[in-house]
Amino acid sequence: MPASAQARPLRAHRLSALNGTVAVPGDKSISHRALILGALALGETRITGLLEAEDVLNTAEAVRAFGARAIRVGKGSWHVHGTGVGGWNEPDDVLDFGNSGTGSRLMMGAMATTSVSAVFTGDASLRKRPMGRVLDPLKLFGAQYQGRAGGLMPVTLTGAAQPICVEHKVTVASAQVKSAMLLAALNAPGRSRIAQTTLTRDHTERMLTAFGAEISVEALADGGEVISLMGEAELKGVAVDVPRDPSSAAFPMVAGLIVPGSEVTLSGVLLNPRRTGLIETLLEMGAKIDIVNARGSGGEKIGDLVVHASSLKGVEVPPGRAPAMIDEYPVLAVAAAFAEGPTVMRGLEELRVKESDRLAAIIAGLRAAGIAVEELPDGMVVEGRGGDGVPGGGLVTTHMDHRIAMSFLTMGLASRLPMSVDDVSMVATSFPEFEELMRHLGAHFEAVEG
Ligand code: S3P
Repeated sequence: MPASAQARPLRAHRLSALNGTVAVPGDKSISHRALILGALALGETRITGLLEAEDVLNTAEAVRAFGARAIRVGKGSWHVHGTGVGGWNEPDDVLDFGNSGTGSRLMMGAMATTSVSAVFTGDASLRKRPMGRVLDPLKLFGAQYQGRAGGLMPVTLTGAAQPICVEHKVTVASAQVKSAMLLAALNAPGRSRIAQTTLTRDHTERMLTAFGAEISVEALADGGEVISLMGEAELKGVAVDVPRDPSSAAFPMVAGLIVPGSEVTLSGVLLNPRRTGLIETLLEMGAKIDIVNARGSGGEKIGDLVVHASSLKGVEVPPGRAPAMIDEYPVLAVAAAFAEGPTVMRGLEELRVKESDRLAAIIAGLRAAGIAVEELPDGMVVEGRGGDGVPGGGLVTTHMDHRIAMSFLTMGLASRLPMSVDDVSMVATSFPEFEELMRHLGAHFEAVEG
């Protein structure tokens, strides 16, 4: 996949220490959901700490296209006036979700049981990602769609005129699929039951509870769970204070670990147990990360993370942990390169269908940096070179993937030779402040002639 239209290459240089306290932006998953539930609720939803990155702004545009009002009243502060469940109008133009799988898939679910049609599209990366995983189960509610072969965007989705409630088991390990089904169930008369075999992030369930939906979750003997949701729900607007994104915090966290002499504090980070797989893994690798000031915020646990430069050792990451750190494997692979000995990561089939084939992109990036890595069908083994042993010096192809760009720039802060990425422009999809925030900690980035 080519880099984006206005590719902006960037190079990261080694430095002696990173120091300081920073606050990463709001959580992407929770930001999308706050806008969408606000648009489905009656009354006003007041959001603070919203992530104002391209992915989320595209979702704001989309909820407006369906007839909700989404007003920005200040930095990260938004007021959403919803239409009520089932009250969305038909958009009068194509909906462009840019790079966002989450925004597009959740919005498909949210409209699937309302009698309107909408055309969904996105950028070159999103138009390669599988949509059938969401669209096919949405047909159970009575929705219909037409897309390109394989369920690729552009897709026209026609919501059910007479939706029916469903019982369905989600077998793909995807919170997006589960959430799309739950959002669709909101306007289907009767009780829908959505089971999942793998426990994925539960922000939709938590937020639906806060907005007043009748929802319950039952654990299953096989380790999965079933979520029951009463349809024709009446959601009421609430206040949502978005915690800071652990998937963004992952970059300064790993940077603080691998750059000798560093001490970095990350304040107010979301610590939902279904999102903390990276922290758990890094602790097992010997990372010194203290969680201080742990507290609750809007039904979620948050805390400040104090990260000290650490000597890391390779580990075997339990495959079952993958859903709790699915977006963090690129930067974990970077940490693994600086560890002593091999790190084994498995259960990563889902990485093949992210913003890029992330498994392939990570492996190519590591090899460009002089790191030996074995590709497994469902993962990889990274041969760590120890704290001072990562050669670096490579140019990484990002394939329009923000997390690949940020991960290898993080690597360049501690590798012997600088690391370059072919395009940093996609970082704006999730973490527009990345460069500024890392520079505030002391990072040295330099523009590269294209
Ligand atoms: C997300 C779920 C994950 C994750 C994505 C955000 C969400 O995708 O990769 O960045 O907000 O539900 P899958 O659920 O498809 O694995």
